[in-house]
Amino acid sequence: MKARTVIHYSQTGQLTEVLRSLCAPLTEAGITVDHMVIEPSQPFAFPWSRMRFFGAFPEAVNGDPVDLKPFAPPAANYDLVILGYTIWFLNPSIPINSFLKHPASAAILKDKPVLTVIGARNMWVHAQQKVRGLVAGLGGRVVGNILAEDRSPNMVSLVTIIRWMFYGRKDPFLVFPAAGIRAEDIAGMSRFGPVRRRTSGPWKHRSSERGTACSGSSRIKPSLLVLEKRALVLFVKYRNYILAKVARDPASRERRVSVFSVVLPIGAFILSPITALATVLLSLVKGKELAREIEELQRY
Ligand SMILES: Cc1cc2nc3c(=O)[nH]c(=O)nc-3n(C[C@H](O)[C@H](O)[C@H](O)COP(=O)(O)O)c2cc1C
Repeated sequence: MKARTVIHYSQTGQLTEVLRSLCAPLTEAGITVDHMVIEPSQPFAFPWSRMRFFGAFPEAVNGDPVDLKPFAPPAANYDLVILGYTIWFLNPSIPINSFLKHPASAAILKDKPVLTVIGARNMWVHAQQKVRGLVAGLGGRVVGNILAEDRSPNMVSLVTIIRWMFYGRKDPFLVFPAAGIRAEDIAGMSRFGPVRRRTSGPWKHRSSERGTACSGSSRIKPSLLVLEKRALVLFVKYRNYILAKVARDPASRERRVSVFSVVLPIGAFILSPITALATVLLSLVKGKELAREIEELQRY
């Protein structure tokens, strides 16, 4: 009998909805679907305060795990793990990173094919590389990736996500659309349907639609990739800045997080259009190189 184990953490329930939609055809096809929800011992309260949100930055970037509530290994003898995760500061969310670094996780992922499902705003490439590495370290193998993201332009989703995260409001306002992944995109997740493996070759999703995550991969937008790579370099510097004096002066962390909470959003609004323009120029000069890099990264 076929069985799937779905492992995920969702703070607001958005990723839960994505997975529910994705898994509906599996259950309808008579496949057993076990769910394992990852829960930090100290829940991350929602909506966030500014200080708590930016205060999570050093640990998210560093990949530092937190304690999790005990989780029971899935009951059924599953043949695929569906690992749903969100992105926090370009990295796998702290709860999922903690799961992938938990001593009990190897027993669940060892020798198992893993299909990753990302529910993000729009920047996930580095996180997926990290997750692939962590899964491999536990003896599992990422065989595909399905992406559910906010389709709005980067600057627009930056505004709507800030309002959503800090005030808990997803509804459209002024000229801005609703925050997060569009309802129709969540509903459309069911089109991926049950994944099946051909006799040889990679895992395939039943969908043949272009532009989304068929054949185990997801589209990478060149300008966002360039922006993400720049941000990653800066993120290491910001993390070092926030933690630089903690040993001598523990209160310095709060002060520096406060500075960072202003610098990051302003930096993002300035860097985003500059990077979009730079990417157009870059693709004229190094178009083939960029295309090759994207092709390589898109191999889930
Ligand atoms: C602390 C924090 C940092 C985030 N950073 C990113 C990011 O770097 N890239 C991105 O695409 N989304 C980012 N998001 C959005 C999440 O990936 C996710 O889409 C959103 O939090 C809703 O997920 P949920 O299902 O857990 O509620 C961030 C969210 C949080 C809470």
